[in-house]
Amino acid sequence: MSDASSPRLLRVLAGETLDRPPVWFMRQAGRSLPEYRELRTRAKDFIAFCHDPVMAAEAALQPMRRFPFDAAIVFADILLLPRALGQAVWFEAGEGPRLGELPALSALESQIEASTGRLSEIGETLTRVRAELEPDRALIGFAGAPWTVATYMIEGRGSDRSAARTYAYQHPDELDRLLDILVESTARYLVMQAKAGAQALKLFESWAEGLAEDVFERIVIGPHARIIEKVRAAGVDTPFIGFPRGAGALVDNYAAKVPVQAVALDTQASAAQGQRIQAGGKAIQGALDNLLLRAGGAAMDARIDALIEQWGQAPYIFNLGHGVLPDTPVENIARAVARITGKGSTAR
Ligand code: CP3
Repeated sequence: MSDASSPRLLRVLAGETLDRPPVWFMRQAGRSLPEYRELRTRAKDFIAFCHDPVMAAEAALQPMRRFPFDAAIVFADILLLPRALGQAVWFEAGEGPRLGELPALSALESQIEASTGRLSEIGETLTRVRAELEPDRALIGFAGAPWTVATYMIEGRGSDRSAARTYAYQHPDELDRLLDILVESTARYLVMQAKAGAQALKLFESWAEGLAEDVFERIVIGPHARIIEKVRAAGVDTPFIGFPRGAGALVDNYAAKVPVQAVALDTQASAAQGQRIQAGGKAIQGALDNLLLRAGGAAMDARIDALIEQWGQAPYIFNLGHGVLPDTPVENIARAVARITGKGSTAR
């Protein structure tokens, strides 16, 4: 239940419209901050960093000290789960993620139960961040959505996803089985995160673009809905934010069918589309262009005002349409958050 003293983010997720929207940014922790880059040099590699609760909690808290964000997100990655299921995952400097060969589905299935325990450090990070965070600021846990995680597992790296989409057509039964493995392991992982301190849970479907309507229903809408059902069946009522990035017109169908409390929109979402989702009883989140945040200045200010004008009359969480870019000037983040919250930052 939410009341006037609970964090703004949770009040909006409970259906309230506030005098100003809560704000947080995807990738608010990370390379845009000099203190993150300094911390990062102390870790052996990115995966070791994510599995170190002291360092990961520090990374999640860095942007909270600098800017008046209304929510922190746990510092982790969507590819920790396939690693916990037994597939090799590593990050090539400057190139992004790489994954080893896709294990046999039976081998992955046999690891579902053990996978949650292999992610226990992420729970510890959440507990640490929650203990340090002021009570009026919320803590978000997250996981990759099954299709997006499956694209990396199938392709072995970030790419145009054509190999994964081809696999979806050529091997529908195998894909459904892989998605089921991810639905079950993700639900358990999110239950663990909620018990460890996450007050909202976000599903990142970063690669929802380019899917035909029937495929979208089968590999995006279905798995998201099943994860939430499983989390609820475990007795966890933590609100969900779903982010079907790139889904375009199909977002309306997503909002109608997936029992999330908020739908996160990407940069191209229209004012009317967001308003329709709000009229349907869900909050929305988004969707300042991360390039405009990087560019800053009067054009950024004007767009911030326009977004609040078009969506702020109903439950709305201010965010970007995708993550903060590494070369975004810190002053621009400070200026944006100050404009939205009316509070100054301690940008150095
Ligand atoms: O501040 C936050 O948003 C919390 C932490 C977070 C990270 N990754 C840290 C990270 C979150 C929520 C993610 C999600 C994630 N990871 C997604 C979904 C969101 C999206 O951006 O679409 C995806 C697709 C990934 C996979 C991933 N991880 C890629 C493709 C890369 C390399 C390229 C890149 O964008 O940096 C990563 C690495 C990664 N994840 C970094 C961080 C801070 C950079 C690692 C470094 O410091 O070298």
